[in-house]
Amino acid sequence: MNICCIGAGYVGGPTMAMIAAKCPDIRVEVVDLNEKRIAAWNSDDLPIYEPGLDEVVREARGRNLFFTTGVEDAIRNADIIFVSVNTPTKTYGVGAGRAADLRYIESAARMIAEVAEGPKIIVEKSTIPVKTAEAMLTILRANSKSGSFQVLSNPEFLAEGTAIADLQKPDRILIGGESTPEGNAAVEKLVSIYARWVPRERILTTNLWSSELSKLVANAFLAQRISSINSISALCEATGADVDEVAHAIGTDSRIGPKFLKASVGFGGSCFQKDILNLVYLCGHFGLPEVAAYWDSVVKMNDWQKHRFAHNIVQTLFNTVSGKRIAVLGFAFKKDTNDTRESPAISVVRDLLEENATVVVYDPKVPADEIRRDVLGSAENDRLIIAESAEEAAAGAHALAIVTEWDAFKTLDFAKIHAGMHKPAFVFDGRNVLPHAQLRTLGFRVFAIGKPAQCRESDAFSKG
Ligand code: UDX
Ligand code: UDX
Repeated sequence: MNICCIGAGYVGGPTMAMIAAKCPDIRVEVVDLNEKRIAAWNSDDLPIYEPGLDEVVREARGRNLFFTTGVEDAIRNADIIFVSVNTPTKTYGVGAGRAADLRYIESAARMIAEVAEGPKIIVEKSTIPVKTAEAMLTILRANSKSGSFQVLSNPEFLAEGTAIADLQKPDRILIGGESTPEGNAAVEKLVSIYARWVPRERILTTNLWSSELSKLVANAFLAQRISSINSISALCEATGADVDEVAHAIGTDSRIGPKFLKASVGFGGSCFQKDILNLVYLCGHFGLPEVAAYWDSVVKMNDWQKHRFAHNIVQTLFNTVSGKRIAVLGFAFKKDTNDTRESPAISVVRDLLEENATVVVYDPKVPADEIRRDVLGSAENDRLIIAESAEEAAAGAHALAIVTEWDAFKTLDFAKIHAGMHKPAFVFDGRNVLPHAQLRTLGFRVFAIGKPAQCRESDAFSKG
């Protein structure tokens, strides 16, 4: 059997590497229009940072895993074609800012129709609005000379930073297909691949639309939990409760469960906001404005939380950060990834620059030019500085702001850092990961998400 995957990104690359590693008898070819990205996949310096990925790629690459730009040949030779191209939020026309931009999906479908001969199974891996499979089928069947097609929906639930573990031991695999004998046969073929390493009872099969919708709903529910706890973090700060204690107390109720209740500066990543906006657009389209408004509020709460964090820094630094130096530690949207898409750091840094602060950013994995591009686009601003280390960022700063929860930040030499900062030296912990008591003993004034107000008051009167 031959598999091809169009799109060598955060989803396509790791997923195909895992299939190739688990199925040495299947030839897996990953193709991408981006030559630089393919060259990186073929080098020792992979284009994405993901713990454990190097080992999996090294095991299969050159044996049954190949990365190329030869899209047409790969499609021609494949029995199963995964489509894993990006589906950003539309920036133009109808649905701008909410609907998914499906032009890459459509161009993939047209390309497949053009070159495919014989039966092909097309698998949607990209997250897409409900009913996209139907559109793909229409394009495929209307344009193909000698191909016959089944389209399956097989959304990916891996989270960045833990992609390899998620792929190795998924909670479930979801496969949706047409409810016809041909559709069922296609579903079974895909099931048989995953069944090589995933227990059968964890492979769920549904109709196409249920599978497509489930992906959006899963991400919407996860994001909603974060916005819910973040909304409570503001209440905790105002009333003296501790959000981590509240999260623990409610999370031990087995009906609620402990995961995804970590209050933060806000959620980021390529999926949550995009998928919710998509859901909002769908609800609007189907005449359900109340449902749309409900889910839209999850994104609004997240935006508010990001601005609230930056605003709190300004307010605490005696209502002005103009000319002050703020060290922002972490820029990726979460730890253990170099991905910055929709990272809350972008919003925080922009807000601080707007207040005329000098912002010094350090992230262990995100390159300097990426940080500049994300914050400024093509503009320039001398007040944005990228540091090579946390210590360098902190030297001469008035405040530290933790925006990504990298493990290395927890064990910095804070005594040394404190000595090199302006006094009073402030810490704003946007992830609640630092040793707050220890920092206070050293003389820092510590402000954390959802932590009691009286702590903040007593801080203000303690040494420092
Ligand atoms: C994935 C999913 O596909 C997306 O729907 C989901 O919501 C987020 O995760 P991801 O793998 O993270 O996307 O995207 P990205 O890293 O941008 O990779 C997509 C790749 O497809 C890029 O390398 C791009 O060059 C490639 N591509 C895009 C093609 O090869 N052909 C195209 O026509 C368009
Ligand atoms: C998410 C989904 O988890 C995954 O199933 C889907 O396939 C893609 O989208 P990802 O975006 O990679 O994965 O990371 P995730 O771990 O879900 O974190 C998303 C954001 O939420 C990050 O910015 C993270 O820091 C934040 N977060 C997560 C919190 O602020 N609090 C939490 O309790 C959990």
